[in-house]
Amino acid sequence: MQFSTRTTPPGRARADCALVPVLAGKELTAGGREIDAVHGGRLAKVIRSGDLPAKAGSTLLVQLDGHLPRALLVSMGEAREAAARAFTDAVRGALQAAGQLAADEALSLLHEAPVTGRDTEWKLRAQVLTGREIAYRFETLKTKRETRPVRPKRVVLPVSAGGSFRAAVAQATAIANGVDMARELGNLPANHCTPAYLADTARKMARELGLKAEVLDVRQMQALKMGALLSVARGSEQPPKLIVLRYQGAGAKQPPIALVGKGITFDTGGISLKPAAEMDEMKFDMCGAASVLGAMRAVAELKLKLNLVVVVPTTENMPGGRATKPGDIVASMSGQTVEILNTDAEGRLILCDALTYVQRFKPSTVIDVATLTGACVIALGHHRSGLFSPSDALATELLEAGNEIGDGCWRMPLDEEYQEQLKSPFADMANIGGRPAGSVTAACFLSRFAKGYDWAHLDIAGTAWKSGTNKGATGRPVPLLANFLLARARG
Ligand code: BES
Ligand code: MN
Ligand code: ZN
Repeated sequence: MQFSTRTTPPGRARADCALVPVLAGKELTAGGREIDAVHGGRLAKVIRSGDLPAKAGSTLLVQLDGHLPRALLVSMGEAREAAARAFTDAVRGALQAAGQLAADEALSLLHEAPVTGRDTEWKLRAQVLTGREIAYRFETLKTKRETRPVRPKRVVLPVSAGGSFRAAVAQATAIANGVDMARELGNLPANHCTPAYLADTARKMARELGLKAEVLDVRQMQALKMGALLSVARGSEQPPKLIVLRYQGAGAKQPPIALVGKGITFDTGGISLKPAAEMDEMKFDMCGAASVLGAMRAVAELKLKLNLVVVVPTTENMPGGRATKPGDIVASMSGQTVEILNTDAEGRLILCDALTYVQRFKPSTVIDVATLTGACVIALGHHRSGLFSPSDALATELLEAGNEIGDGCWRMPLDEEYQEQLKSPFADMANIGGRPAGSVTAACFLSRFAKGYDWAHLDIAGTAWKSGTNKGATGRPVPLLANFLLARARG
């Protein structure tokens, strides 16, 4: 589904179908009235019939003629001014209904509807992101196409001249490209998406977008004394990798922002083996990695004026004759020792060495993204990601970036008191803190390695994928990360 802006007035536009917003169950917008006038008041008449339900996203098809053979009336909800959420629901309903028609090109006037606290640029971005979200299919590994081709193929967004409307569509398109990439990597099963595959994907993206790529192998990790990361890889036949991608969009002196993503391509739990039920979903345990790669794609496509480093520690977590055993003690790259009481708490072990490693880039800000704890799913469910940061300013920036783009997070505590749960009689710390506040103690563990920069941690265990019949990666939190980086690039 491709989106573009056009400055032709809606009354004169040609398209297979127009998406016409209806406010408070009865009112047309300026463009809607133009179309109505050209077609002899047909739209107003149908609205008066009362057949269009008021619920946001309800639709009613009206046959027209000439250059515009149909219009889809789209209810924006009962209020004259829609809430951001109702607007997105309306867009989803409209594009899904339009997808059932034999219409290749749609003309959407939905951004003419008022939305509380949002400008036209926001409404354009929301249409692109929602449209691309419903257009995505994972068909890479199907030999037969099961679903009909995606319709509409093109969506034209009429806008007035001036404004940053084209830029808004370009931004959302780049973010959607990043989201698609993250969903694709997340959905690929672990026999395809191995650490080596992630490394190849990163190298390919680097070539395409002019990034610097470096992939560290086991020997380089050994030389760096990454004992925590290596302890997770021990049980696997797949060699682990540490992927580094660098984008320079600002002066070399400007300190970079670093994104670190958990890249466990499959999490069996290791010797602390997980139960069999739903274990297939642990192929999604590299969604943190996928999301930071997706965010890098959006940034590089948009040529943002900032410097960005993406670091992905990636390995499988497998049981095996050489695998790490509960009680084993390893030395991390930072020098701190860790008693591994549960090999299933592996995410923090690969991240802690990556958090030490990023220090060499002297980043101003580091954000790590990880499907880290089941406890985070219990705390926040599937709507908001967990946000942990000792910095109020950084936490506020991330909260706002997420809320604005509909990819929300929620701040969780990091108080000193929780650190006590990580005490070990044998090493500097244990890798688990017991059942209470499991996502907080996981973040506390990471905080001991996140030194020398501003740091935030996003636990995306509940938001990175959907279970059940709609099983699949969501691409979150690419929109949050990209929106945060867009704001940073604006300065
Ligand atoms: N990848 C899992 C976290 C996870 C679990 C994400 C379920 C989504 C759904 C992580 O590696 C893990 O296994 N965490 C353990 C930690 C525990 C052993 C302290 C967990 O959450 O159970
Ligand atoms: Mn685990
Ligand atoms: Zn895991």
